[in-house]
Amino acid sequence: MNIVILAAGMGKRMQSALPKVLHPLAGKPLLSHVIDTARQLSPSTLCVIYGHGGEQVPQLLQAPDLAFAKQEPQLGTGHAVMQAVPQLDDDAPTLILYGDVPLTTAASLQRLLDIAGTDKLGILTVEMDNPTGYGRIVREHGSITRIVEQKDASADELAIREVNTGIIVAPTRLLKVWLSTLSNSNAQGEYYLTDIVASAVADGVAVVSAQPDHVWETHGVNSKVQLAELERVHQHNIAHALLEQGVTLVDPARIDVRGTLTCGRDVSIDVGCVFEGNVTLADGVRIDAYCVIHNTTVGTQTHIRPYSHFENAVVGADCIIGPYARLRPGTVLAEDVHIGNFVEVKNSEIAAHSKANHLTYIGDSTIGSRVNVGAGTITCNYDGVNKSRTIIEDDAFIGSATQLVAPIRVGQGATLGAGTTLTRDAPAGKLTVSRAKQVTVEGWQRPVKIKKS
Ligand code: UD1
Ligand code: MG
Repeated sequence: MNIVILAAGMGKRMQSALPKVLHPLAGKPLLSHVIDTARQLSPSTLCVIYGHGGEQVPQLLQAPDLAFAKQEPQLGTGHAVMQAVPQLDDDAPTLILYGDVPLTTAASLQRLLDIAGTDKLGILTVEMDNPTGYGRIVREHGSITRIVEQKDASADELAIREVNTGIIVAPTRLLKVWLSTLSNSNAQGEYYLTDIVASAVADGVAVVSAQPDHVWETHGVNSKVQLAELERVHQHNIAHALLEQGVTLVDPARIDVRGTLTCGRDVSIDVGCVFEGNVTLADGVRIDAYCVIHNTTVGTQTHIRPYSHFENAVVGADCIIGPYARLRPGTVLAEDVHIGNFVEVKNSEIAAHSKANHLTYIGDSTIGSRVNVGAGTITCNYDGVNKSRTIIEDDAFIGSATQLVAPIRVGQGATLGAGTTLTRDAPAGKLTVSRAKQVTVEGWQRPVKIKKS
């Protein structure tokens, strides 16, 4: 099969410099949703018609299985499909999709393909209570005879509630002939793809229709209002799928998944959480309110407290993280690690049963098991030019407000006194302190305010 995706329109009503089809829905360009659905149908040719917004569309979305054809100027949907003609294999049917209709399912498209076969013209149609703006499906004795656009329709035709979703499949050899005969003598002066329907009828080719499972599958995006509405539809669908799998969502209207969220059994997610990229939550994971989790896996029974932010991290089982914790790329936590409030971890491995519970920065570090990192500890990993590693071995105890000037190593079971600025390795099993001796200054008095004359 050939698939052509029309994506050349400018989307004036988006009020944006970004081409319409690149606006994100669930964190991904509208057009990428359509491309991903098209890929599920394994087409031999997948051609995107672009135009408005110049080369941004092919530059951003280029992939080995995609062909691009430029349509300039944009003279209508029929003219758009004409740009793909040289790329289309005559011996396979051609399916036409819209780059601004992101939520059509592969199942609904497959139903249309099945009914159209290789020799019929198939149209995905839908009944609408308010069909304003859409092309109407004109039938005689039940059979489709043509499509009439809103602006060309008579009063009787405007009353028709069955509309063209725009998604059409046609035998390619005939499609090429029909396209070559299109004219633009209509209310909009455009080459309408929809005029191929009357050509098919004239050529004695059967015209058939299929309906999608849901009307929202056919909704397009023309404005930020419609984009926001479709985002809600999509998030509602994702939330319901999670509920069906047994995930507890405290409020299914207050979760956003921008990517793939994979959950084990008895996962519970409180309100306001955002999941981006690939996130995996193992059995029994509990996520409290307002967490943002990006490309991360979380082990069984781990509890993420409110307002935590993870990016490209691996969190083990039975951990307690947050509130207000930040795990940056390269963080790998083993089991039963505790990371508390205002603790930032970057590019560091922390082994089992270790804790950093308060106000700490751990960067470029390897931390052993059962290590306690006291409040206010900072790894000084950056000298202004290079990054260096900090190694803290098993059972070490890092006193509060310590600075570890990397590269540096704290030996197994070592203790660092509070306030230490460690610039040389600390030996295993011993107390190391770098503080100056405490003195009390006799006779010292607080300064007094000098009166201004
Ligand atoms: C089109 C259909 C109409 C259908 C409606 C469904 C035609 C003539 N009409 O109308 O029957 O009910 O879609 O939404 O086909 N595009 C291009 N190049 C162009 C013109 C459009 O790539 O020159 C793309 C647009 O970016 C968009 C799609 O084609 O993705 C549809 O174009 P649009 O102008 O929205 O068509 P409608 O007038 O809504
Ligand atoms: Mg439209």
